[in-house]
Amino acid sequence: MIKTGTGTDPQPLRIAQITDTHIYAAPDTCLLGLNTRHSLQQVVGLVRASRQPDLVVASGDLSHDGSAEAYACVREQLGALGVPVYCLPGNHDENTMLHDCMNNDGFHSTGSLRAGGWQLLFLDSTRAGSEGGHLADGELEKLDSALATHPELPALVWLHHQPVKVGSRWLDSMAVDNPQALFDIIDRHAQVRAIIWGHVHQCFEQQRNGVQLLATPSTGLQFLPGSEDFAIDMIPPGYRWLELNPDGTFSTGIQRLDSIPGTIDPAARGY
Ligand SMILES: [Fe+2]
Repeated sequence: MIKTGTGTDPQPLRIAQITDTHIYAAPDTCLLGLNTRHSLQQVVGLVRASRQPDLVVASGDLSHDGSAEAYACVREQLGALGVPVYCLPGNHDENTMLHDCMNNDGFHSTGSLRAGGWQLLFLDSTRAGSEGGHLADGELEKLDSALATHPELPALVWLHHQPVKVGSRWLDSMAVDNPQALFDIIDRHAQVRAIIWGHVHQCFEQQRNGVQLLATPSTGLQFLPGSEDFAIDMIPPGYRWLELNPDGTFSTGIQRLDSIPGTIDPAARGY
């Protein structure tokens, strides 16, 4: 059950952002030496051991191969937390399959959410046949309308692709290609507190006009910040926690495993 306070609930709403799980159909398939099922299992264990969330946001690339078996694995592992899970697609997902598999019994793959005196808005930034991101007119209109309807609620905006450059040439070639259309809307609605994404497999934290811009490590493989070309960062995977306070403030941070749960080839130049 999600908290549904209207601003008087003294308890913060706790969110765990899980992203870029890159699960394969076959349980023993590894991504550059890392078994992503095993790694996700450990990160979910970390979530459970540290801060039991009120809800989970799973921000894309949930499957590496778009298979029903991969989504079943994500459901089983995230479902073990016993809280609602809000899913959005990434460039490795197969959108129809994701929606078919992840939109019932506590899992949601569409729309928005109002809880704990906040509004959470989920955008589809994928473009069929492309690794890069794009926000279609319909997504932008939905965002503008939801923000206009609830100006009294502080808001978080979630998507898969980064809407700003993170400083890695190869990753920034796959960013949202129409970010100004997004920021034109954000700039019209003062209640937006943060824009949060996955895709870049690294922590990123910046501010723009008082809005936090946040990216989150993958639950598996990490990409080296600032790298011109594909490069692995040999640090453990993790997730982002957020605590949304009824007064419109929030706190957030990254938690990582103690070690990398696998044997990654640090010289890998792509996948
Ligand atoms: Fe990814």
